[in-house]
This record gives sequence, structure tokens and C-alpha cells, in this order.
Amino acid sequence: MKKIKPMILLAVTFIFGGILESQAQTEIPKAVNELLVKHTCFTCHKADVKLIGPSWMEIASKGLKKAELVQAVYAPDQSRWPGYPPMMPMPQVPKKDVEKIADWLVKLKK
Ligand code: HEC
Repeated sequence: MKKIKPMILLAVTFIFGGILESQAQTEIPKAVNELLVKHTCFTCHKADVKLIGPSWMEIASKGLKKAELVQAVYAPDQSRWPGYPPMMPMPQVPKKDVEKIADWLVKLKK
């Protein structure tokens, strides 16, 4: 049992390291990055690698409009994502935060 605590610490370090890394590799504006951390989006979405959910680049490449992206956070449409588990709707995220994230995703589309 005594060994469990160091393991948890290690796991936390890994997860946190992952967040810092994703920050370093892509141009996610600081304000947006903070929202993605705060609302746990990074748990399932990374900048350019598939995790539990599609990467931000992949989401951006669908070419959804801002309103559709906002809607996608409150009522994700899994039919757009074959092979992924469904994302739970996240009504707890304030609309102004979702709009900032959506603004960024629209611009991310190249
Ligand atoms: C528990 C894991 C998880 C978390 C946390 C999560 N997502 Fe997702 N997300 C997914 C998965 C899986 C999909 C693809 C399947 C789907 O859309 O249901 C997805 C899809 C999406 C889509 C596309 C939906 C569509 O309708 O095409 C957007 C946009 C998105 N996520 C944004 C976010 C944002 C912003 C946050 C944080 C507020 C977030 N996600 C948090 C797992 C997650």
C-alpha cells in the first residue's frame, strides 16, 4: 500500500507534463490554453494527436462555423466522428468561454 502514493505522484507529473508539452508545441494563445485546461478539454483533446477525442487540428479541419462549434460542446454530434466514443455534453462550460474556444478553432483551420 505504501507504494501507491509515489505512483500517483508520478502519474500526476506525467499528466501535467503532457499539458505543458501541448502548450509548447502549438500556437494555442495563452487565454485559450487556460480555458482548455480549466474546463478539462485537454484530458481528451491534444493539439495534433488523436487521444480519446480527435485532435484540435482535426476538429478544425471539419470546417464547422463558430455557432456549430459552440453547439458541438453543448451537444456533440458523434456521427461526425466514427471510431470515437461519444463526448459527454458539457453544459457547465460558460458560453463566453466556449465562444472564445470556437473563435480559436475557426482560425486554426488552414
Ligand atoms: C472525456 C473526454 C472529452 C472531454 C473532457 C472533452 N471532449 Fe470534446 N470530444 C471527445 C470525443 C470522444 C469527441 C468525438 C465524438 C463526439 O463528438 O461525440 C469529441 C468531439 C469534440 C468536438 C466536435 C464535436 C462535433 O459535434 O463534431 C468539439 C468541438 C469538442 N470535442 C470540443 C471540446 C471542448 C471545447 C472541450 C472542453 C470544454 C472538450 N471537447 C472536452 C471527448 C472529450
